[in-house]
Amino acid sequence: MRNQRSRRAADLGDLRGCGVALASGLILATFAHAAAQVPSRSPDVAFASAPPAIVDAMLDLARVTSDDVVYDLGCGDGRIVIAAAKNRGARGVGIDIDPARIADATALALREGMTARVTFVLGDLFEAQFADATVVMLYLQPEPNLRLRQRLLTELRPGTRVVSLSYDMGDWTPDAVRRIGGRRIYLWTIPARP
Ligand SMILES: C[S@@+](CC[C@H](N)C(=O)[O-])C[C@H]1O[C@@H](n2cnc3c(N)ncnc32)[C@H](O)[C@@H]1O
Repeated sequence: MRNQRSRRAADLGDLRGCGVALASGLILATFAHAAAQVPSRSPDVAFASAPPAIVDAMLDLARVTSDDVVYDLGCGDGRIVIAAAKNRGARGVGIDIDPARIADATALALREGMTARVTFVLGDLFEAQFADATVVMLYLQPEPNLRLRQRLLTELRPGTRVVSLSYDMGDWTPDAVRRIGGRRIYLWTIPARP
């Protein structure tokens, strides 16, 4: 009898142990999931998406064709590279530091049937490799633009076009500025190396 009672108590103890382990596992999994949903550090620029007419104008200004590899550094929901793929036949790479944005961009690429032509990468644009771009799209802020400028000039191949929505590159004179819907779009071309 005493043996039976102590076996039952031991079983209950095991069950409680399992319950605690299960609960800890769930909590850990919940934290891991939450961690996967937040950026590794604060984004340098908050998310805002370029309106469709502006996306088109950016692609026009860069004269994007099916020969191009279009990067969007800070790609948000991926609309620029997806439009480049869908409407111009280009290939595209979008980079964003925010996992939620990369999830949105991946879902949009799926919806638009463009997953074979575009790639989305979770990461910091200041650490990203983009030397194979023929077009780089930016919709950032003045300070990140200036911080990127030297890398664009040294790592991109001569002839690569850089387009920025709303913000210039300080004293790097643009080849063209287009005004659309009260906004400015800037175009630069990477010059030949001296
Ligand atoms: C203004 S939104 C532009 C979105 C998209 N390019 C468009 O035009 O629709 C800027 C994006 O840059 C991302 N971002 C900010 N800092 C970043 C960084 N250091 N590395 C990668 N992405 C970053 C933000 O998460 C946000 O999605």
